[in-house]
Order: sequence, then C-alpha cells, then structure tokens
Amino acid sequence: MATCSKHPEKVIRTFQGSSIKDPSELSENVARRVFTFSQQRTKWRKLEDNFEVGDLFTQQTTDSSIRFCETKQKLSQTCCKLESCTMETPKVWVPDPVSGYILGKIIDIKAETVSVQILNSNEVLTVPYESTYAAEELDDKDVDDNCGLMHLNEATLLNNIRLRYNRDQIYTYVANILIAVNPYFEIKNLYSSETISRYQGKSLGVLPPHVFAIADKAFRDMRALKESQSIIVSGESGAGKTESTKYILRYLCESWGCQAGPIEQRILDANPVLEAFGNAKTMRNNNSSRFGKFIEIHFSNKFSVVGGFISHYLLEKSRICSQSRGERNYHIFYQLCAGAPLELKKKLSLSSPDKFQYLSKGCTQYFTSQETEKLLNKDSISSDQCQKGSLHDPMLDDIRNFRTLDKAFKYG
Ligand SMILES: Nc1ncnc2c1ncn2[C@@H]1O[C@H](COP(=O)(O)OP(=O)(O)OP(=O)(O)O)[C@@H](O)[C@H]1O
Ligand SMILES: [Mg+2]
Repeated sequence: MATCSKHPEKVIRTFQGSSIKDPSELSENVARRVFTFSQQRTKWRKLEDNFEVGDLFTQQTTDSSIRFCETKQKLSQTCCKLESCTMETPKVWVPDPVSGYILGKIIDIKAETVSVQILNSNEVLTVPYESTYAAEELDDKDVDDNCGLMHLNEATLLNNIRLRYNRDQIYTYVANILIAVNPYFEIKNLYSSETISRYQGKSLGVLPPHVFAIADKAFRDMRALKESQSIIVSGESGAGKTESTKYILRYLCESWGCQAGPIEQRILDANPVLEAFGNAKTMRNNNSSRFGKFIEIHFSNKFSVVGGFISHYLLEKSRICSQSRGERNYHIFYQLCAGAPLELKKKLSLSSPDKFQYLSKGCTQYFTSQETEKLLNKDSISSDQCQKGSLHDPMLDDIRNFRTLDKAFKYG
C-alpha cells in the first residue's frame, strides 16, 4: 500500500480469510460479521457448517433449540389432539440427501419415530423423531432476518435462504450478521452507485439486507461511538469473501472518500496488485486468494477516508514451485507472459507458460475475453492453449489485468 496515514482518528477493519491468526487483534469493537456461502458447491444441508464462528448465531441457535424442544413437545401433544379432532396435521421438514430437507405432513407418531407423508408425492418416510423439524405455517414466505422465523431451526433457516436465493435476494440477516449466497452472476443494480446512495445513513433493517448496510452500520457506529469497528468476512473457498470485501471497500471509499482524492483510488488499486501476487486458479475458484488479509481504512476527525493499511498472512508458498493438474501458479506469471510489452518480455526472457518448470505441471492456459484473445502473441501460447483455447471468466483476463496492475504500480 503506497499511502497510509500515521495518525488516523479511527479505523474500520475488515478481516478476510477462513481463520484469524491473532484474536487479540480483535480487541476493539468487533461489530459485525459477513458469512459468504456458495450454494453451487455445497449442498444446502451443509450450510450449518459455515456458522461456527458467529457467537451471536450460536446464542440464537441455542435459544431456538430450547424453543424448538419445547415446540416439539407441544407438537406431539398437538398431534394427538389434532388426530382426535381429524383436523389438518402439522407440516415438518425431514432430511433429504438431495435438497437438504423436504416438507411433509405427520401421519403417524410412534414412541421413537414419526411417519411423514411427503408433500406432492405418495412417498411416506418413517424417520427418528429428532430428525424432523417444525415448519413455518407458510412455506413460500421468506423473511429478511432469520430471527423473524416463527420456528428457527436448521431446516427453516435453510429454506428461508433458499427461497430468497431463488428470488435473487442473496443477502439475509441473522440480527446484525449478514449471510451472503454467491449468485455466480451479476444481479442488476445490486451494487450500483444508486444503491450505494440508498443505503447511506439507513439503520440496519430499514432496507433489504445488503453488504452495504453492514458497511454503513460500521461507519455510523464508528462516528457515534468514536470507536474503531471491525467487519469479519468468512466462508468456504469460492463463497464470495473477496468480492464482498471489495464491495465494502468501494462503499466506504465512494461514500466518504470523495475529499480524499488519490488516496481513495490508491486503496482500491491495492486489490489488483494483491490479487496478481496472491490469487491463483484452483479447482474451486478461478480467483482463489491463497492468503488472508486484514485491511484498515483510516478516517480523519471529519470522518472522511484519509488512508489505509493492508497486512496479509498465510501465503501458500508451495504453489510457487508446484501446482495440481488443472490449477495454476499465481496470476502474475500468466499476466506477464500474456500481457507484458515485447521489450519487457525480452528483458525477462519470457515465453509461454509450458516452457517454465514452475508452471508447466499445472494448467498453462490464459484467461482472456474474446477481444483480448486476439492480442495473444504466438510465442506466448502453450501447446495446451493452442489445442483447448483460452479460459473464460468474467472476473479474469490476464492481458487486461496486467494493464490494470501496471497502471496501479505507476500510480503508487
Ligand atoms: N456478489 C457476487 N455477485 C456475483 N458474482 C460473485 C459474487 N461474489 C462472488 N462472485 C463470483 O464468485 C467467484 C468467487 O468469489 P471470491 O473470489 O470472492 O471467493 P472467495 O470466498 O474469496 O474464495 P477463496 O477463499 O478461494 O479466495 C468470483 O470470482 C465471482 O465470479
Ligand atoms: Mg478470495
């Protein structure tokens, strides 16, 4: 990072990565967390695994477990009553290997098991009592905040997030924790400048859940409480942590960085540099960060952005000399081979990736767009690239990214 103010008034920190090395770094107010979650790569039923970090969530699940146990007892009593009155039986969620949980109606209750008639099917499942979960009255109604669910349990929580995801509402709260599901496509206007202005100064919950709302709350708390704030972004690989962090940074810089001039641009420019040297294509994510990072955005006493500081840890050093098949070394090597001007290539004796011992064992194809593919020099193309062509990802382009990196270095 080229610039950082030595005596910032207050800072907003974001921690990004699956683990935080030194918890004492979290000494100041840990205000909020963002969980990112990749629906495409993990079955819904595995969502539970991603929540371990959230104290608040744990607290709420404990409360809700108690509530749920009580509910179960009531459910059993109600079932007996309902049976005798021949009224409609209650709906429950039962585990399913494909969907996580499916909805059914209790048709029989034994000492240890219940028989459930699956909705819209003739199937009847007999499952242990403990593996059923009480369902909400309306199964297609979603809530912005999981705490608003009548029955908060694993199945209703997953169903709420799934309903929202199917409506392109990728964000859901659990109080002041935000759960984000990676949509893997651009949702129109979700991160536009108009959306940024809409979220400015609005309390959490006034507008639909959004990563901007979390950034705004951090800013407002910093201003009101005069204390530094932290945002933790965590989740599995490919869940969208890096993208969420970039949106938080953009929100803070666009909203309160206008007077900062080049500093705002420098903070944003640090990302392409970090990603070139610290991100690589893996089997799970074409732009996988192989390091954790800790970003500070510094604010003046007038609460405008005056600087930033980024520290990083856990760089996967082994990737430099060996990569698995289908994976690549750090982006910088391919960016140089594909995008560097001829003069620089000559000076560094650069040719195609398969000519280098440290690149040849992994994937040697470049990421390009249709336009930049035409700019590739014959000498820079590996035999694999010749046969299979380029890799495509809207977020990655080795030629374009080299230019951005070059510009960012000149700026600093
Ligand atoms: N909010 C979003 N909208 C659209 N696409 C997204 C969003 N978040 C992530 N993606 C897509 O998912 C890909 C992976 O996201 P990202 O690199 O942020 O994952 P990550 O959690 O940082 O993974 P890793 O731990 O491997 O670094 C991105 O390159 C992008 O294509
Ligand atoms: Mg990442």
